[in-house]
Amino acid sequence: MASPKFVCVVGTRPEAIKMAPVVLELRRFPAVDTILASTGQHKEMLEQALGAFRLKPDEDLAIMQHGQTLADVTARAVEGLDKLYDRLKPDWVLGQGDTTTVFAAALTAFYRQIPFAHVEAGLRTETIDNPFPEEFNRRAAGLITSLHLAPTNWAAGNLVAEGKDPKTIFITGNTGIDAVLQMAKNVQEDWYPEHGGRVVLLTTHRRENWGEPQRQIARACRRLVEMFEDVLLIVPMHRNPQVRELLTGILGGHPRIRLIEPPDYDKFVKLMQRSTIILSDSGGVQEEAPAFGIPVLVLRETTERPEGVEAGTAKLVGTDEETIFGEARQLLCDPAAFEKMAHAVSPYGDGRAAERIRCLLLSKVGVTSPEVKMWTLEP
Ligand code: UD1
Ligand code: UDP
Repeated sequence: MASPKFVCVVGTRPEAIKMAPVVLELRRFPAVDTILASTGQHKEMLEQALGAFRLKPDEDLAIMQHGQTLADVTARAVEGLDKLYDRLKPDWVLGQGDTTTVFAAALTAFYRQIPFAHVEAGLRTETIDNPFPEEFNRRAAGLITSLHLAPTNWAAGNLVAEGKDPKTIFITGNTGIDAVLQMAKNVQEDWYPEHGGRVVLLTTHRRENWGEPQRQIARACRRLVEMFEDVLLIVPMHRNPQVRELLTGILGGHPRIRLIEPPDYDKFVKLMQRSTIILSDSGGVQEEAPAFGIPVLVLRETTERPEGVEAGTAKLVGTDEETIFGEARQLLCDPAAFEKMAHAVSPYGDGRAAERIRCLLLSKVGVTSPEVKMWTLEP
């Protein structure tokens, strides 16, 4: 008889990073067949992220095109995944997070009546169009999910409040914390520019920040560098040409601003650890920075990750130039304000999320595996 088959679908950098620990954990158990499938929504950034875990997709739909619209990505991913599921006949499909890839992976599994497991389920904001289109993607995936793998108690509570069957909801911790803790051990040497002073790290790519919000973010950062002579601003640029053009226009040509290619994940983790503060609109970076006690200013109007804000290491500052500049300046010149934020907490996980997910999935297909202590929902 054929082994039970799991198809793990990824498409973008964060999905690759957060799915990798699950794939590696499932592959420790040869009683199940674990296939890594990529839509290829991202190309170089996906290869790079998987490469940090020495993984390569077993299947690649290679759909990325420059200037792709949301509808392009959805249409090509659904079409390709449908054929893939037909050929592979998975017992379960796994998807991660809130991208167009996870929406397509869940929808297509639903059409073929294949059970879908959602990794990082239950994150929510109050408005369907912010973050855009991610809030829609994760809610839609949640509608057709058979196994909700919530990273935190808060996320699980959101699913319960929506009326999902509590028997399908489990708190696992975020697999991104498994990934970041593993990577933190990997790279020992410093690779970034030699600099005696402080490093400020900026990443920005969000669709709702394209254009004017990103312009304000970039201007605020340039003003920071001009004000603090010991500060080096490092900006790993997302590969989206539109984002690059804007950042280069405002931040280019300054001796203490480095606009760099996105470093490999292990190197990026090392760079986060070297940073005094981080300014970012990234979901994953918001989760990782608290694990190292690096204050992170979240360049968004709303967040589906309130735990870091509650724990005090993250602060939601929006995208207004004056506010960003003011908040960052305070952290850089007021040691008390800095110390208040700079403490290591890990509200998103303990590094064992993939083990919990493995335990749940294997029990679904009747394969016994070592138990892991599960977390229970607290009111
Ligand atoms: C996507 C996700 C977003 C996630 C982000 C992570 C959706 C709708 N958006 O946004 O939720 O936070 O990934 O980074 O799913 N590009 C390359 N090479 C790459 C990757 C991207 O050249 O390896 C360029 C291409 O021109 C591409 C563009 O970036 O068309 C945008 O990529 P896309 O996946 O559509 O959107 P992101 O903004 O990356
Ligand atoms: N990351 C990386 N290299 C970079 C920037 C980010 O490896 O140059 C990692 C980061 O540590 C996190 C993930 O990529 O794990 C976040 O991806 P991104 O910000 O693109 O997406 P989001 O999390 O916002 O969906």
